[in-house]
Amino acid sequence: MRNKKLSGAVSAKLLRSAKKVMKNAHAPYSKFRVGAAILLSNGKVFSGCNVENASFGMTNCAERTAIFSAVAELGPKIEIRAISVVNDQGVPCSPCGACRQVIYEFGPDATVFFPGAKGPKQAHITELLPEGFRLQ
Ligand code: THU
Repeated sequence: MRNKKLSGAVSAKLLRSAKKVMKNAHAPYSKFRVGAAILLSNGKVFSGCNVENASFGMTNCAERTAIFSAVAELGPKIEIRAISVVNDQGVPCSPCGACRQVIYEFGPDATVFFPGAKGPKQAHITELLPEGFRLQ
């Protein structure tokens, strides 16, 4: 089962939303601001930024901030169709391993847009996370 192709307008909207929320990042330690925006199958868009902490391990990535705020607002039945990730350094930045697993939980068929080494890239979540973990 593969996601229907997303229009350029949809990915552009997600990119805009991710860039906007990136400005709210709390990244005093890494100085690396990240923004993420998710499109749900109901058409709604949620966004999030990275939120760091003096106890570094408590840091929350932008992707998980966006996903958790969607769950908080709509409950756990959300389905992620697509996610866009950006950073303020213009460097390649695909979601970290932990975020891939969280994306997979709510979007096993999600398309991921991110800055790759040779410019904007898109990949299916299962390309980024083969054999993602699932209970049952
Ligand atoms: N970060 C994200 O928010 N998302 C990613 O995909 C990669 C890393 C954040 C975590 C931390 O605040 C900073 O970037 C540097 O690792």
